[in-house]
Amino acid sequence: MKLKGKTALVTGASRGIGWEVALAFAREGADVAISARTEEPLLRLVEQITALQRRATVLVGDVGDEADVLRIVTTAAEELGRIDILCNNAGLLKIGNVDRLSVTDWDQVMRVNARGPFLCSQVVLPYMKSQNYGRIINMSSGAAIRCAAGYAAYSASKAALNALSLTTAIEVADYEILVNAMSPGYLKTAMNPEGTRPAADAVPTAVMLAALPSDGPRGRFFRFEEEMIVIPESPQIDWTN
Ligand SMILES: NC(=O)c1ccc[n+]([C@@H]2O[C@H](COP(=O)([O-])OP(=O)(O)OC[C@H]3O[C@@H](n4cnc5c(N)ncnc54)[C@H](OP(=O)(O)O)[C@@H]3O)[C@@H](O)[C@H]2O)c1
Repeated sequence: MKLKGKTALVTGASRGIGWEVALAFAREGADVAISARTEEPLLRLVEQITALQRRATVLVGDVGDEADVLRIVTTAAEELGRIDILCNNAGLLKIGNVDRLSVTDWDQVMRVNARGPFLCSQVVLPYMKSQNYGRIINMSSGAAIRCAAGYAAYSASKAALNALSLTTAIEVADYEILVNAMSPGYLKTAMNPEGTRPAADAVPTAVMLAALPSDGPRGRFFRFEEEMIVIPESPQIDWTN
């Protein structure tokens, strides 16, 4: 088991990729705090996690809401004892060309996909720093790089998440806290009914990033367990000049 003795918080665990990742973390030996806005599916997931002899905590809330995130993270830490792994998976897709997309849809997508991981990371980091251990997995998307008509809000939010991942990784360089982003692939879920692969196909990459050794990658982007260069290192861009 790759995560024996570890604890994890997975957002957006009520269905799709988050459900599969939370269950996989438990199969690998972790106790798991599972979060989303809808309680009923989380209670069903708890049954599956406890059947694996792992502890599970249900935390209902909105990742875009500051008070909810504070309650979710502090309760997870209290009930599980520590938070070793954070998987910022909760996400929202709204499609519409820039001149048609409502401002409300833009704001909602940015709120869930960018503000959510920021808030969760902000509250989790003090715990990870105090234990000098942490693995943060930000569920990004290839859409951050390969842009397509109609995906402005979604792509912009995931590009923001990529930048958040790299920035956070740099900021915690003195700690054994490894922050990375991943694309799960084009997976069949409620968000993406056209997906060509099952949601479980995100699992190997998520488990790999959750179980990274101390000298593992930081601030990188992975897809199907392979590193992709999506944030080029551009030393020719000098902010001071
Ligand atoms: N499926 C794909 O092909 C694909 C490709 C690239 C990236 N991704 C990313 O992978 C992640 C999971 O996607 P998915 O396909 O599994 O989507 P999904 O089936 O729609 O699941 C989204 C999850 O996020 C939760 N969620 C949504 N808004 C939330 C909020 N404000 N606060 C808390 N939880 C919230 C949902 O639960 P509630 O509604 O109960 O809150 C649900 O558990 C997302 O970040 C997505 O952008 C997916």
